[in-house]
Amino acid sequence: MSHTHTAQPLLLPDDPERRTWLMATGVAAGVAATGTAVPFVASFTPSERARAMGAAVEVDITDLAPGEMKTVEWRGKPVWIVRRTPQMLAALGGHDAALADPLSSREQQPGYAQNATRSARPDVFVAVGICTHLGCSPTAVAQGSPNPSVPSDWPGGYFCPCHGSLFDGAGRVYHNMPAPTNLEVPPHRYLSDNRIIIGEDDVS
Ligand code: FES
Repeated sequence: MSHTHTAQPLLLPDDPERRTWLMATGVAAGVAATGTAVPFVASFTPSERARAMGAAVEVDITDLAPGEMKTVEWRGKPVWIVRRTPQMLAALGGHDAALADPLSSREQQPGYAQNATRSARPDVFVAVGICTHLGCSPTAVAQGSPNPSVPSDWPGGYFCPCHGSLFDGAGRVYHNMPAPTNLEVPPHRYLSDNRIIIGEDDVS
């Protein structure tokens, strides 16, 4: 089954990580998080429950255009899938000195994503879209954006509005940010050029 939705998914009462994400999202958007539309896990169908508890999610990226991001839900978290352009790839180099962990030496990604692009395939970036500080959902900010929250030589990446953490286009955190580590790259593998499984890989 393919999951391409971006709608806010269901809240699991027993999932603190998820709760943080939803609350943080509400704060970031200036919208109060309320208790409405909070279903019980008991109301899930068996497949919904399996997915919520951690089942892998298959994603079709056929329609994902270069430069675009698709967000899917895995384990109650938003997972970004970005189809990088050659320009976005080129922009990953040249600012290592500004990054806290440019070589991804900390365990925030599987081994196959511990490389210059932090991805299994250079042209597709997969990351958990949750700030490693307190769990807000960062916003994509393109290179050349007039956004005053990013430096003038910004190579493109992600900005967390909650406390200002900056991440480059590979999810690598800048120096002296509230966020202590790079964004997490979840386990994933390709079933074909345009089909990805999030949540499982070939590594045992
Ligand atoms: S939650 Fe992202 S900077 Fe604090």
